[in-house]
Amino acid sequence: MRAASPERGLRGRLTVPGDKSVSHRALMFGALAVGTTEITGLLEGEDVLRTAAAMRALGAEVERVGEGHWRVAGRGVGGLVEPADVLDMGNSGTAARLICGLLAGHPIFAVLTGDASLRKRPMKRVTEPLSATGARFSGRSGGRLPLAVEGAADPMPLDYVVPVPSAQVKSAVLLAGLCARGITRVEEREATRDHTENMLRHFGAVVRVEADGNRRVIELEGQPELRAAPVVVPADPSSAAFPLVAALLVPGSEVTVQGVGLNPLRTGLFTTLREMGADFSVSGERVEGGEAVGDLTARFSALRGVDVPGDRAPSMIDEYPVLAVAAAYARGVSRFRGLAELRVKESDRLAATVALLAANGVRAEVEGDDLIIARDGAPVPGGGVVETHMDHRIAMSALVMGLASERPVAVDDTGFIDTSFPGFVSMMNGMAGEGVIAPAEELA
Ligand code: S3P
Repeated sequence: MRAASPERGLRGRLTVPGDKSVSHRALMFGALAVGTTEITGLLEGEDVLRTAAAMRALGAEVERVGEGHWRVAGRGVGGLVEPADVLDMGNSGTAARLICGLLAGHPIFAVLTGDASLRKRPMKRVTEPLSATGARFSGRSGGRLPLAVEGAADPMPLDYVVPVPSAQVKSAVLLAGLCARGITRVEEREATRDHTENMLRHFGAVVRVEADGNRRVIELEGQPELRAAPVVVPADPSSAAFPLVAALLVPGSEVTVQGVGLNPLRTGLFTTLREMGADFSVSGERVEGGEAVGDLTARFSALRGVDVPGDRAPSMIDEYPVLAVAAAYARGVSRFRGLAELRVKESDRLAATVALLAANGVRAEVEGDDLIIARDGAPVPGGGVVETHMDHRIAMSALVMGLASERPVAVDDTGFIDTSFPGFVSMMNGMAGEGVIAPAEELA
C-alpha cells in the first residue's frame, strides 16, 4: 500500500477499535471468573482473537455474540484445563507473556508458540520470575518461543521487583499470584499501565497499591474467588494516536476520536503533542464501565521539537513511531529519551523507526537509548518504501507520514495492521478521501 497527500484536510468524528490491553485482560479474567462475563467493545484484532482461542483451549466457553460483544463463561481461579494442542499466540507479546503467568499457577502442561516476530522476542523476563512459583519453563535460548510450560500444583507467591518497566511482566507475576496461597508482591520502579490491577479489583480480588512518586508496590491476596463482571472496553488511545497525529500534519484537518481511554498511565503521547504546540483538546470526559474516557480533537498545527523525558516512556511506549513521524514535521530538535524497551517490541522499533524516516529523507540519530530528530522546517520528501518487519505500528506510522510528505510513502506489508487496528485503511480514507491510501502499483 502507499499513502499520498489528500486534496483537502482530514475531517471526521470517528470511533477507533477497543483497547488492546483491556481486551486481552477481559478475556483472561472472564476465563478465570465464576459465571459469565459480558464484554462490549472488544478489539476484534488478530492479537486478541489469539487470546480468545487460547482461553477456549484452556477450557473457558468463549462466544462472540455480536460486533465487539463477547461472552466468556469462566472456570474459576485454578480451574483452567490442559490444552490439547500447542497455543499459537501469533504476533502478540501481551498474550504470550500474560498466559505464561496464568499457566504457571495451574498444574498443567502447555506449549506456546507464535509468529516469526514473537519467536524472536525475549520471554526470560517472565519465565525467570515465574520459575520461582515452582512452574517449569523450557524454551529456546533466551527463553524464546516455542516454550513448554509445566505449571505448579501449589504455586509459591512471589515477591518480585520488576527490573524493566513492563506491564506485561508485572501482569504475568500477578496472574500467577491468583493461584498462590498468600500475598504476591510486585514492585515497579517506574509506573506502567495498571489495567491488570484495575481489572483484578473489578472482578473482586483484593489488591493494594502503594505509590511513591513513580515507584509502585502492588500486593495481591492469593486464591480469591473472581466473580464474572461486565467489561466495557474503551477505545484504544494507542490506535487513536494515528488519525489524531495525521490531523495535526495535514493542513485544513480537524478530527475527533470519540470515547478514547484516558487512563493516565497511557496518555503520555497527548501530553507530548501539547508540548509540541499541537491544537489538541479533550471534551466530554466521563467514566464508562469504570474507565475514564473522553473525546479527543486534533486540528492541523505547526509543531515544534520536544524533549521527552525517559520517565514518560512507559505511558506512551507504543506511540514513539508515530511521534517520530510528528517530529519529522516539527521545527527544531526532538529528543526522546530512554527508549531501550523499544528494541524488543514487535520489531526493533528503534531501528525500524530510524529506517522509516531515513527511507523518506528524514535523518534521525540514536544516541545510547535516545532518539534524536532535528528538523529545520523543510518539507518531508517521502518517496520511500518502508519495511514493516511484521510490526503493525511501523506500518500505520509510515502511512500517516505519507499523508503529508511531498511524495507518497509506500509500505511493504500492511497485513499486520489487523493485529491491533482492523479497518485502519478504510477509516483513514473515510477522513481523507477514497484512494488516499491505496495499493501501490509498484514497489521499488
Ligand atoms: C502491554 C504492555 C506494553 C505494550 C504492549 C501492551 C500490555 O508492553 O508495549 O503493546 O497490555 O500490558 P510492556 O509492558 O512489555 O512494555
